[in-house]
Amino acid sequence: MMIDRTRLARLLDRERRAFRERNPRSAAAYEEARGHLFGGVPMTWMNKTAAGFPLYLAGARGARVTDVDGHEYVDLCLGDTGAMAGHSPAPTVAAVEERFGRAGGATVMMPTEDAAWVGAELARRFGVPYWSFSLTATDANRWAIRLARAVTGHQKILVNSYCYHGSVDEVLIVVGPDGRQVSREGNVGAPVDPTVTSRVVEFNDLPSLERELAYGDVAAVLMEPALTNIGIVLPEPGYLEGVRELTRRYGSLLINDETHTFSAGPGGCTRAWGLDPDVVTIGKAIGGGIPSGGYGLSAEVTARIEAMEGLDLIDMGGVGGTLAGNALSVAAMRATLEHVLTDDAFAAMTELATRFAKGVQEVIDAHRLPWSVVQLGARAEYRFAAPAPRNGGESNTAADPDLDDYLHVYLANRGLLLTPFHNMALMCPATTEADVDRHHEVFAAAVAELVA
Ligand SMILES: Cc1ncc(COP(=O)(O)O)c(C=O)c1O
Repeated sequence: MMIDRTRLARLLDRERRAFRERNPRSAAAYEEARGHLFGGVPMTWMNKTAAGFPLYLAGARGARVTDVDGHEYVDLCLGDTGAMAGHSPAPTVAAVEERFGRAGGATVMMPTEDAAWVGAELARRFGVPYWSFSLTATDANRWAIRLARAVTGHQKILVNSYCYHGSVDEVLIVVGPDGRQVSREGNVGAPVDPTVTSRVVEFNDLPSLERELAYGDVAAVLMEPALTNIGIVLPEPGYLEGVRELTRRYGSLLINDETHTFSAGPGGCTRAWGLDPDVVTIGKAIGGGIPSGGYGLSAEVTARIEAMEGLDLIDMGGVGGTLAGNALSVAAMRATLEHVLTDDAFAAMTELATRFAKGVQEVIDAHRLPWSVVQLGARAEYRFAAPAPRNGGESNTAADPDLDDYLHVYLANRGLLLTPFHNMALMCPATTEADVDRHHEVFAAAVAELVA
């Protein structure tokens, strides 16, 4: 079944007009903000809106969000994973109130006892024993990269094409259409061409990985065990084992970025699939919505770093942030890991994501659409290609921004939010079966109108 582009354009226009009529206060707030905010938004990516302007938040709790025009939404976006614990989960709120309110103190330049608890818990979950904290996954990756360079003496970082690891200079590189490695389109103010700092290969491609590692200059392979930022691309059997074997053989560290793949279970893909990385990085969800992140190091890497002389890990060496590991962030991580994103919570969230993926597949099948849906624990995402793409390049080719926008605005107009950058739905502990079923009802209607 092919999509009729004229019909799609007409429906998208209709939905955008309905969105504008439905959301006058958000529209007015956006208009006003344009006078004083760069791009009219607090952060420029907030202009990624299918409808032309963003909804303004009034409040959020659990799996529900309310906007300033008084609409309530089932939130399947969950802050693009930052709120995978649900919005303002009670144990995290209590810990934040206690730390910042009753006890007092967030940025004090003194450790709290919560930090060692969080380190031990992350070690239990992800298998790497020594942790250090950041406030974002981007910073966790940046600092892990620096340490990898220091410890290996190699200069380059190798990533997968169409990966995303935050606004990290080294990762903005793709395999171009002719197979050459090139800067990612739109790369803003790169300090040097990324081919100077990086190598890139397609996911699921061990021969290319070996070819690039064989240059002997790669400090680390920084990767998600499953790609999540260009749809979800799962590893093929043997691929991750091959990556581990090759990185060892060529003296490169393996960094698993579990920021999104944390959806796979309490210890992300690393634990769910028995992986053995040298470094794990994470951010977003572990603080229950309070800025938090961190990197964990294997015992071997830690020993190698500690044996090195002349590394300034205390002051101006390039690994550190004044507010990183602050008492509030660490209290939030502890409460979220101890009481919210528990093993039991993941089991229920994963069941819901299975229900989500099944319902979407049924709609795809009913209309014989050339689309696919892929699940990774608590998250599921559909892509306009079937079978599901096996690497970032293939998945990028399947992009259809108008179709994305139509489905996103159609859902928003009927009380459902998807992550702006993806056709991804994420489950939190407060998501219900009824929420998922409501999505299917609206999704089925959106598709039926499109193919009618
Ligand atoms: C895998 C991965 N790593 C790192 C990041 C960066 O996270 P942040 O922007 O919170 O620093 C992202 C953001 O989407 C991500 O998907």
